[in-house]
Amino acid sequence: MANTTQSVRQLPAEDVMAALRQLRAQQPVKFAAFYSSQLGGIVTDPALMVIPFDDHMVHRGHGIFDTAGLVEGKIYDLEAHLDRFERSAERCRLIMPAARAELREIISATVAASGARDGAIRYWLSSGPGSLDLSPAAGAEPGFFVMVFPGLSYPERWYTEGLKVMTTTYPIKPSLYAVTKSTNYLPNVLMQMEAKSAGVDNGVFIDANGHVGESSNMNVAFVTADGVLRHPKFDHILAGCTSLRILELARKLERDGAIGGVEVCDIPVAEARGAREMLLLGSSVKVAPIVAWDGAPIGDGKPGPIAKALLALLEEDMRTGDRLIPVNY
Ligand SMILES: Cc1ncc(COP(=O)(O)O)c(C=O)c1O
Repeated sequence: MANTTQSVRQLPAEDVMAALRQLRAQQPVKFAAFYSSQLGGIVTDPALMVIPFDDHMVHRGHGIFDTAGLVEGKIYDLEAHLDRFERSAERCRLIMPAARAELREIISATVAASGARDGAIRYWLSSGPGSLDLSPAAGAEPGFFVMVFPGLSYPERWYTEGLKVMTTTYPIKPSLYAVTKSTNYLPNVLMQMEAKSAGVDNGVFIDANGHVGESSNMNVAFVTADGVLRHPKFDHILAGCTSLRILELARKLERDGAIGGVEVCDIPVAEARGAREMLLLGSSVKVAPIVAWDGAPIGDGKPGPIAKALLALLEEDMRTGDRLIPVNY
């Protein structure tokens, strides 16, 4: 904050630029490239990765986003992420700013400009600037933004020792908002902060009927005591692209006899607590084993073989599968 003992100055544009640079010097970020439809192109200086304050995504949360992975210079499963982006846009009454092919091209061009070969690509659609009202301003143009960054990373021990979760005290989002990937992540943020202050790794939402929901930015799934891979239904949680892919890849484990089946169904908490394995699934975490929930062990309290096998299948799919789009660097 500016020192309030000094007078509050009106700033010339050069000082604003210097302040934006200073901000990034204080808090370095590893954002490699940013596209903004409002700026009309791509920037690689993080100080220039800005959005107008009156954009409705900023002050009303009227925006959506999605994140796809970048693996060895190829974008993984982008079509699934764009499908979800389009569904979210429709639910939020946001107008797609361009045809899908053009969005794909902008995403790819931003990755190329970044030079990054591994990491994550997050992109947003906002309802645009022009007022501080609730409905978008008359004539507001939707904003499209793309950020290339290293991706979220998690401690190695999550994979080697497994992680611990708690049932959050925060209510799950109503279904319409849970299935929509809008920028309203307050419950998700609070759940994760609550878990960290309680000394565990993450939280789990439970719905009003006592069924398992999801975690902060990840889905959860179980290997039941009788060896079936069970995933909560997608009507009250986000349809994770990772989950949808894992449910397909898991068929191989079923064919090999490692699991007894794959089911998407309501999962009562009491049943879930008796699972052999509990898994976290998501684009950033991939597949990680949960070994304790609310202080009680899951299975034998150690990472299980199905989590490991599914992680291997997913990693193989991310490197050599048929869902990779090469970037033209
Ligand atoms: C609330 C929530 N659930 C689940 C997921 C997992 O989705 P995905 O596998 O597409 O990363 C995410 C991440 O986007 C999320 O934010």
